[in-house]
Amino acid sequence: MSASELFEATLNYDGMFGFVLLVFLAIAGYNAGRLASRNTRRGIARAARRGLVYLGIAGLFLLGRLATIGIMASYGWEFAADRIVISVPLLLLPFGAILVLTVPRLLRLARIREPDRTARVDDSLRDRAAAPRLVLPVQAAALGALPACYLGYLQPVTPPFADTAVLTHLGWLAGTGLLLLRQRRRRARIEVPARRGTGQRVLRVSATAIAACLLVSGWVVRSAEQSVLPAQLDMAGQHEPPAGHAAGQHGLGADTVDVDSLTDPSKGPPDRRFTLVAQNSRIELSSGRVVEGKTFNGQVPGPRITVRRGELVEVTLRNRLRESNVTVHWHGLDVPNAMDGVPGVTQDAVPPGGEFVYRFRATNIGTHWYHSHQQSWESIASGLYGAFVIAPPRGLDPAVQDLFVPFHSWQLDGGPLRAIGTADRLDRRRVEPGTPVRLRVLDTDSLPRKFVLDGTSFRVTALDGMPVHEPTELSGRRLELGGGGRIDLEFMMPDHPVRLTDVLDLSGGLLLSPDGSGEVTPRPDQPDFDLTSYGTPKDTPFGPESNFDRTFTQTFDNKPGFYNGQFTFLWTVNGEVFPDIPSIVAAEDELIKVRFVNRSHFSHPMHLHGHKVLVLSRNGKPVSGSPVWLDTVNVDVGETWEIAFHANNIGLWMDHCHNLLHSKVGMMLHLVYENVTSRYQIGSATPNHPS
Ligand code: C2O
Ligand code: CU
Repeated sequence: MSASELFEATLNYDGMFGFVLLVFLAIAGYNAGRLASRNTRRGIARAARRGLVYLGIAGLFLLGRLATIGIMASYGWEFAADRIVISVPLLLLPFGAILVLTVPRLLRLARIREPDRTARVDDSLRDRAAAPRLVLPVQAAALGALPACYLGYLQPVTPPFADTAVLTHLGWLAGTGLLLLRQRRRRARIEVPARRGTGQRVLRVSATAIAACLLVSGWVVRSAEQSVLPAQLDMAGQHEPPAGHAAGQHGLGADTVDVDSLTDPSKGPPDRRFTLVAQNSRIELSSGRVVEGKTFNGQVPGPRITVRRGELVEVTLRNRLRESNVTVHWHGLDVPNAMDGVPGVTQDAVPPGGEFVYRFRATNIGTHWYHSHQQSWESIASGLYGAFVIAPPRGLDPAVQDLFVPFHSWQLDGGPLRAIGTADRLDRRRVEPGTPVRLRVLDTDSLPRKFVLDGTSFRVTALDGMPVHEPTELSGRRLELGGGGRIDLEFMMPDHPVRLTDVLDLSGGLLLSPDGSGEVTPRPDQPDFDLTSYGTPKDTPFGPESNFDRTFTQTFDNKPGFYNGQFTFLWTVNGEVFPDIPSIVAAEDELIKVRFVNRSHFSHPMHLHGHKVLVLSRNGKPVSGSPVWLDTVNVDVGETWEIAFHANNIGLWMDHCHNLLHSKVGMMLHLVYENVTSRYQIGSATPNHPS
């Protein structure tokens, strides 16, 4: 079991233990409260015995929960801080009181051996059974288990949570005080045992149940309504001026910059021109299966665009789709903001029949890709993507066999079908021995892909297109890509077959061999490639020791809840989903540090548009090999990453999880430069749906 799998399992057990604990303490609390209203001595003894059993079980689950919290804390303080500060005292304090005060008293009552079934309870026994010292600890524990369960599972708390802690603890104290008063009153009254008729009890229970149902459904309806996104949402208005910076007047000052003005200054004809035509297409997979999809220029992946660094590129997008709007986002290219292709942020989505011209200078060498950013998940899944390669100024080496390897899942009726491009079967290609091979591997999917390269040693020469410094020869390593990420692999073609295989699809993959035939048995269980210790160090313009102008922490959690009126499992950033996640606000030229803490149930490939981020550390360990520059940081469960970037590309930028099923339900925010405004809007009353 990997560290991430262990964390995820622990998270599940933690939630379950918290719930079971609450249930048993609630039963024990109810039982303890009714102890004194038993009519017979035997009845009291039996109830006391039952009470001891309930508490015993609760005790076991408490130990279990302490263990899960301990394991989570071993991943880092932030993984368990809220639980340790808020929940643990609410569980341990009353439980201590149970051990010291309740248990001995229950034991004494439980020891009553009463042969006479009808022997009535005398006043002194009744008084002992109603003692607040016996009853209160159990009820206080049940009261404490409620927020401990709620905050653990339904409403994870992210730092700073001092106010939540204080409120919860005060609330618990007040509740315990009320319970004490109630028990005192009960004890004073018990000479006349309150024995209600069955009818009365049924009435009382159903009234309580109805009230609870009304309350819960009221709350559900309210949260559903509140989650509905406004019909028009102004992206530039999504942030407060940061503390310590000139407040107010945002977007109104004389020095505001409009997104539309953030274009390349070069005039004149471009060096390279391309046309991308979005259209509905029947896509035939290598197995013969046919998918009704969408393509650029009728092909999947779309036409490969290769340009040289420094060239001025112009791409005309035409929308010939029957009904969908479209845009093109250049994933991995740090283009001027107005060319970023995000509907509702940097442009209006292009309607059927419409057109948009993108113009930018190719700056960052490497393997990148383009895809529609309108309804991103559906668009990409249906085929609207392609490779964008920026070659060095001298061009690509023609001797190299240069292959684009996009992992892609086709959505069929029977579920997703794993493929490489349109190859849903083993793709065989002929390559002459001695030929240098470069595989540009991309994950277009939402889910991460793990894959292996068998039959040759190889070098990982680029991550997200950015070159690795002095990559060493590797073999027998399992590689992983998060959604949107890229890895370049290079090797010299041997005289025998080489195979790239997705470890969850051992019958598929890409097989290269001198004559196109031959077999390689994939070995899925190889140690994982560690990008933080590969290659050799090199100077970077900034690093872990730099002074950062601003530092942001993004803690990822889950909670069940509503997004845009739909009940779903939410993927939250600092407890919130779009549009309530605060933006990252920056001023030009600042150095920004971001920490990712993943306490959720799944990995998150966090993609920042328009910038390359430098990895500072992963799980507290600084990068020891080549500098790692990424645009999509795949933060696995239980992991902490620190990254930094230079705010050198002014604009309004998306920053989202490239598991597009997550961003679809709100796992997105923005990087906003101060004073940048945009006239575009997203929402149901606009053409723009960026996720
Ligand atoms: Cu490839 Cu905003 O994404
Ligand atoms: Cu995610």
